[in-house]
Amino acid sequence: NEDQFKKVISHAKEYGYVFQSSEIYDGLSAVYDYAQNGVELKKNIRDYWWKAMVQMNENIVGIDTAIFMHPTTWKASGHVDAFSDPLIDNKDSKKRYRADVLVEDYCAKIESKIDKEIKKAEKRFGDAFNKEEFVSTNGRVVGYQEKINVILKRLGQSLEREDLADVKALIEELEIADPMTGSRNWTDVKQFNLMFGTKLGASAESAMDLYLRPETAQGIFVNFLNVQKSGRMKIPFGIAQTGKAFRNEIVARQFIFRMREFEQMEMQFFIKPGTQKEWFEYWKENRMKWHLSLGMDQDNYRFHDHEKLAHYADAATDIEFKFPFGFKELEGIHSRTDFDLKQHEEFSGKKLQYFDHEDNASYTPYVLETSIGLDRMFLAVFSNALEDETLEDGSVRTVLKLPAVLAPIKAAILPLVKKDGLPEIAKQIMEDLKWDFNVDYDEKDAVGRRYRRQDANGTPFCITVDHDTLEDNTVTIRHRDTMEQQRVKIEDLNEIIHKEVDA
Ligand code: GAP
Repeated sequence: NEDQFKKVISHAKEYGYVFQSSEIYDGLSAVYDYAQNGVELKKNIRDYWWKAMVQMNENIVGIDTAIFMHPTTWKASGHVDAFSDPLIDNKDSKKRYRADVLVEDYCAKIESKIDKEIKKAEKRFGDAFNKEEFVSTNGRVVGYQEKINVILKRLGQSLEREDLADVKALIEELEIADPMTGSRNWTDVKQFNLMFGTKLGASAESAMDLYLRPETAQGIFVNFLNVQKSGRMKIPFGIAQTGKAFRNEIVARQFIFRMREFEQMEMQFFIKPGTQKEWFEYWKENRMKWHLSLGMDQDNYRFHDHEKLAHYADAATDIEFKFPFGFKELEGIHSRTDFDLKQHEEFSGKKLQYFDHEDNASYTPYVLETSIGLDRMFLAVFSNALEDETLEDGSVRTVLKLPAVLAPIKAAILPLVKKDGLPEIAKQIMEDLKWDFNVDYDEKDAVGRRYRRQDANGTPFCITVDHDTLEDNTVTIRHRDTMEQQRVKIEDLNEIIHKEVDA
């Protein structure tokens, strides 16, 4: 629900996970920065994926290809010609896409009206101008905001929009109700290029038009033969990579769910034509297991099989996750046939074939793809972990129950008091543990408050050094989720933490 989502966003900011990009300049829409804890969580998710996909599979290797690619890449992939909506698979989503454009356009228009009203008033009232008061009492501004709320509520919060005609009707209804708005023709929908363009080259004449990649997959396809030969890979084998991708998204109102600059974790699995059904089932199951291995609730997941398929696919499914705003796509699994390799063969004039020694024949492999957004996974893990828990005494604690393997800080070391040699022992424990784990030292405030801070930060363990430690070299280790405390030897800490946090 909306409140939970707001809580997620503000918690992410307050605890140093995610900031709006360029916030001091009022931010840049749908672009975000990962803060000191966010960067650790993101790295841990990436590592967890990499380990499961590359390290644990002898027949999958990783690569890291450039964000810039030869512009013909995007002709071959279909991203350039299908220009206005290159990533749209079917008629329904095309409609939805057009509806998104209408909604975004309409909201932007109203927002600029609100800005204008505020600027006018600022000029008029000078120092006496109070923005909050003006906004809440100015009927027109309030009216404009209500319009945005109506449309977002009815349509914007859910991308599963109804018919394009419904969106138009709703906008018309709102427009008619506003005498300030002139007539507008909503029928000619703007063409948007989802790819960001840039230029390579020193002079205007010689410069080459480039795109920032909208997916990492193409870097894998164009390197298929290089990797296969240099790694002497035998089919079936996979190539994995993680990295930034860029899309000029039209609707961008869902925090890090839909960003203009984001990170993907993709794997292309090259197979013999005819075996794609088995491998599709295999990767469907395998990827779902990966999600559940993090201890995430099974009820929060479901498959959504595509009925209408993209031109390149012969089967496709989404792994959907229950985000605070409902079930939405988290990962895609696509049976892409030999479409991509064939296209690159055609456009480059180079053969991208595999010689099968068993069959004594060459063929263009088929491809099974798994593709997950790292930022989207971050949002899934983070929103799933955030809880306001009512304790036995009726008080409420905010706790971020991140899987221990993903938590940014694995343990916090806390001297009970700032004297009697306790800080020195605590610091020594930190020095010893930091070789293996990201740890934190905290001596400020009462220990109860420090526990709460670590709970909200998602730290699975708090280690408290007290006066008994001076006697017997033991400390208290407190578990975040159960709040249970155990007395353990300092020398056993490393092993205890390893047991919980290792993948
Ligand atoms: N190579 C296939 C491909 O890119 P996609 O369904 O367009 O397929 C795959 O994207 C995944 O990338 C999605 O399931 C989603 O998790 C993530 N993703 C796509 N667009 C995104 C955006 N604008 N912001 C954040 N994540 C995005």
